Amino acid sequence: MISVAIINQKGGVGKTTSAVNLGAGLSLLKKKILLIDLDPQAHLTYSTGIKAHELSRTLYHVFRGDASVSETIIPRPIEVNLPFLKNGKKSNTFFVLPASLDLSGADLEFGGIAGREFLLKESLSQINDFDYVFIDCPPSLGLLTLNALTTADEVYIPLQTEFLALQGISKLLETIEIVRKRLNRNIKITGIIGTRFDGRKRLNREVVEKIRDYFGKQFFNTLIRENISLAEAPSFGKTIYEYKPDSYGSEDYFKLSVEIFERDKTKNNTA
Ligand SMILES: Nc1ncnc2c1ncn2[C@@H]1O[C@H](COP(=O)(O)OP(=O)(O)OP(=O)(O)O)[C@@H](O)[C@H]1O
Ligand SMILES: [Mg+2]
Repeated sequence: MISVAIINQKGGVGKTTSAVNLGAGLSLLKKKILLIDLDPQAHLTYSTGIKAHELSRTLYHVFRGDASVSETIIPRPIEVNLPFLKNGKKSNTFFVLPASLDLSGADLEFGGIAGREFLLKESLSQINDFDYVFIDCPPSLGLLTLNALTTADEVYIPLQTEFLALQGISKLLETIEIVRKRLNRNIKITGIIGTRFDGRKRLNREVVEKIRDYFGKQFFNTLIRENISLAEAPSFGKTIYEYKPDSYGSEDYFKLSVEIFERDKTKNNTA
């Protein structure tokens, strides 16, 4: 089981879009996937078509000890036909651990208790039968994100290939470094995702070069292009593969899923 925290304290850079569509993409590649919504805004939950306000149990109840992870996880079937593949008909079921607005009080409610950084890690010790767990973090470096960092083996950082893409990154890297020293010495950054790329814009191309200079091999080869369908899909509760299988967004996120799949195949040999 590889657990990945998808983090950037900057808002709107593509964390949730990446969590949903990489999770779904790897699921279509036959991996068993759990998506964890760690954001009180519950965007990931809604984006996968789950109505958070109708749920009686969410991650919040798990943190309180009122529900187990296995009874809170929701199965989400997916069936698609991807036109850019020879055998594009694919299906599977991925799983979602939903969030709700209750989580917004987490800092206050759990901030004073011993072991507050390990709430998520402890909850997940109940499960071990997933290939990947993707944790969608809120846009802050508060207690919830800290919980993701103590739990995760790996960190993916989405960066919008725009002006100021790297602003705030040193603070984020510093936080990860502190977590590595004190709370989780296994954690490493394994994927920088360039999002909302527009190759026609010189600035975008320059920013990509800057990111590549800064991160080198950690920067994924596949770039996610700017694509309106990616912005529309969440309001239908659909992944990009279901909403617009022939879009750039669908092609790019599937390609990145394959890149991750191929890279991680050899992980045990190179680690
Ligand atoms: N490649 C893309 N092309 C066009 N729109 C995109 C793309 N990626 C994401 N978006 C849109 O940009 C907005 C922000 O994306 P997303 O919600 O994934 O970011 P986030 O980092 O999770 O934000 P937050 O910090 O608020 O949780 C959303 O409306 C999303 O649909
Ligand atoms: Mg988000």
